[in-house]
Amino acid sequence: MSKLKTKWICQECGYETAGYLGKCPECSTWGSLVEEIQQSSSRKPVNADFLNLQKPSLLNEIELSKEIRMSTNISEFDRVLGGGLVQGSLVLIAGDPGIGKSTILLQTSGLLSKNGKKILYVSAEESSNQIKLRADRLNIKTESLYIYPQTNLELIKKEIDDIKPDVVVVDSIQAIYTQNMPSSAGSVSQIRECCNFLMQTAKNENITVIVVGHVTKDGNIAGPKVLEHMVDTVIYFEGDKYKSYRLLRAVKNRFGNTSEVGIFEMGASGLTEVLNPSELFLNEHSEITTPGSVIIATNEGTRPLLVEIQALVGTTPYPSPRRVANGVDFSRVLQILAVLEKRVGLNLSKQDVYVNVIGGVEISEPAADLGIALAVATCARDVMVDTHTVIIGEIGLSGEIRAVNNIEKRITEAQKLGFKKAIIPNANGIPANIKGIEIIKAKRLIDAITACVSKDGRLGKKL
Ligand SMILES: Nc1ncnc2c1ncn2[C@@H]1O[C@H](COP(=O)(O)OP(=O)(O)OP(=O)(O)O)[C@@H](O)[C@H]1O
Ligand SMILES: [Mg+2]
Ligand SMILES: [Zn+2]
Repeated sequence: MSKLKTKWICQECGYETAGYLGKCPECSTWGSLVEEIQQSSSRKPVNADFLNLQKPSLLNEIELSKEIRMSTNISEFDRVLGGGLVQGSLVLIAGDPGIGKSTILLQTSGLLSKNGKKILYVSAEESSNQIKLRADRLNIKTESLYIYPQTNLELIKKEIDDIKPDVVVVDSIQAIYTQNMPSSAGSVSQIRECCNFLMQTAKNENITVIVVGHVTKDGNIAGPKVLEHMVDTVIYFEGDKYKSYRLLRAVKNRFGNTSEVGIFEMGASGLTEVLNPSELFLNEHSEITTPGSVIIATNEGTRPLLVEIQALVGTTPYPSPRRVANGVDFSRVLQILAVLEKRVGLNLSKQDVYVNVIGGVEISEPAADLGIALAVATCARDVMVDTHTVIIGEIGLSGEIRAVNNIEKRITEAQKLGFKKAIIPNANGIPANIKGIEIIKAKRLIDAITACVSKDGRLGKKL
């Protein structure tokens, strides 16, 4: 009998090696390598029959089948998908445990089946009873939604063949396994094999497959990262677990752009769409007038979003000062602090600096730079930015304020929410069709600082 071969696979990124390593050389995660049994190479691939049928064809002879999209009836979800679910595609929805993946998929399934689609909801983690309880809570009543608690991929395939659904939901990919693999459910080899199989089912039978993937911090089960290249669409479901809203963000989409974000609020009866998200993020702001708190207009996809940035600056009790950034890129904050020191003359070398974006929003675009700089500067000097001012701009290393995209949209959003003043980059020129809001153009960081503080301009003088 041949000896079983094993290899060590990183459960985060799929890196493979023959022996144990404490740290993955590919993704630098510690303790993520797990020993897995290698399958014998003589095993027939799952899709052998299908592969044999395929022959190369000339591009101009390929008959185009129309891309058919199904609306989920949740406009925020449709938007992230690029206009609805594409028939025959595989969508991966990844998110932290408990964020609401099962909830949104059950709600979507309910709405789809109401529209006459046949849905097979494979629940590999929860019993039918649990799903029923959730469905009652979410008030889902349909006739063409099948719930199937199952973890065996071969049995799942059998039901797909029998029921012939339009959409299959697999909750979650880490909990199902194929008999063709000796390794345990949730390992890299298993989830890759199962995902591959579901991908072929989707393509061959023109079924839309939605797969749930848990984001994991420990290396016990493999994360969705190892699947991202295989699937058509990858959507991350994010949010602060202790707050009620959630963001859906596409990070890869073969059928649409990836800049769109869907915003939801989680409640007892499930997720509801938030159609005016800026209001949600600013609802606590109006009464607060503390130094170090500013409002910026960031862009989430094609939609502007107003969020509050707060900074706290104080003398450090430590030998070297602390810098903490939540919701914004840490190195970006360090860069802005360096510009504040060098170009504005704000001495922060003995000061701890904390920067926080309110509401657990993650901001990745540089248009937030100016807001961060002003939050830090006003807190350091204990002056207030007028609460009806919105701040937009990227900061360059020489202290210049650089132009940002979609300036009109950002200003219009601020105006809608009652803002009276906007500080924007001079380089953006004159924004078209903007009336009824005071526009202050700043060339350099120091101009913006002088412009935004209360009328006496205390900050500008003190610096
Ligand atoms: N009765 C309720 N009222 C309000 N919110 C609830 C209620 N029950 C559950 N929730 C919310 O639903 C979340 C769990 O949703 P769900 O089970 O869909 O998450 P999940 O991402 O599928 O989790 P898992 O990782 O366990 O699969 C909870 O964290 C909570 O926020
Ligand atoms: Mg779940
Ligand atoms: Zn790795």
